[in-house]
Amino acid sequence: MTEELLRDGNLSDGELKALLETDEYDAELRTAADAVRRSIYGTDVYIRGLIEFTSCCKNDCFYCGIRCGNRRAVRYRLTPGQILSCAGLGYDLGFRTFVLQGGEDPYYTDDMICRIVSDIKNRHGDCAVTLSIGERSKESYRAYWRAGTDRYLLRHETAAEDHYRRLHPGSMSLAERKRCLWDLKEIGFQVGSGFMVGSPYQTTENLIEDIRFLQELQPAMIGIGPFISHKDTPFRDFKSGTAELTLRLVSVLRLMFPYALIPATTALGTITPDGRERGLSAGANVVMPNLSPTDVRKYYLLYDNKICTGDEAAECRRCLEARVALAGYRIVTARGDVKTQDTVRGAAV
Ligand code: SAM
Ligand code: FES
Repeated sequence: MTEELLRDGNLSDGELKALLETDEYDAELRTAADAVRRSIYGTDVYIRGLIEFTSCCKNDCFYCGIRCGNRRAVRYRLTPGQILSCAGLGYDLGFRTFVLQGGEDPYYTDDMICRIVSDIKNRHGDCAVTLSIGERSKESYRAYWRAGTDRYLLRHETAAEDHYRRLHPGSMSLAERKRCLWDLKEIGFQVGSGFMVGSPYQTTENLIEDIRFLQELQPAMIGIGPFISHKDTPFRDFKSGTAELTLRLVSVLRLMFPYALIPATTALGTITPDGRERGLSAGANVVMPNLSPTDVRKYYLLYDNKICTGDEAAECRRCLEARVALAGYRIVTARGDVKTQDTVRGAAV
């Protein structure tokens, strides 16, 4: 089955189900995924400096530690000046992509977001800016694009209607989530989507729907990580997802989307200590160290036991550099845009 996936970049639903429900093919999947990744990206691993700039959110996603219904969450907002100095620090540490992520926080108006993005781009012209601030109108997305935003991360979370409704309150809808993703794509962003692995009520069929949706969307980036339960959410008693299934999916996604940027996520590193290294060996090619100021990091708690909440940015950078090297890859200082068949072929000529 791995050979067929490698050859065709696709499998039937039945074959995918069989592949996802056994560990029998894990080793060969990993080998094939790593070979594909090396043929396009070599051993390069791109780093993204993650700035978690607000822990305030108007949404109430049942799985998320900073949902508005969690009265125990500590809320903070970074000022534009603080965000800029995080980016400045990151620049000196060799980051050339900044990911501004936060809850859905209307305190940050479109004008503020645009000003922050254009200030970063003016100071660091060789950098890419990625936003990950949830669902907004197409008009807002257009404004972010005009301000110089290069990329946008918005996981679809689950592509199955009934599953979506079990993870979110009635005020949110999968249709709206998808509308945002299609709008972002149409505007011209490099779009990232993805889902949690092992979220409550998830079935293999749901995962296959996730893959089918990604095949339709053809995102530049695909972020997946295990669901990890948070003690102050309605899902506190649910089991977390596993590293094994997450890694299996990373390999399947690499084989289906050879050119995609796929992070070895913090959630994967949280569920198992060498999760990110194993993610890289399974086909991932991006890591996202934290650049948020140390004093607020412990408050951006999406799930329990999140790693790297006490470290300085420079420490995180060093630690990941060592981990990536240990796994046999190399962190590169580059914007790290998504490659296409044309760019790879062009480079070979
Ligand atoms: N508000 C933005 C959004 O909704 O896209 C960005 C922030 S949101 C916290 C970033 C991602 O964290 C979500 O897309 C979700 O997949 C992930 N996440 C939230 N709670 C999680 C949990 N308990 N376990 C694992 N991942 C989680
Ligand atoms: Fe808004 Fe998680 S519920 S960021």
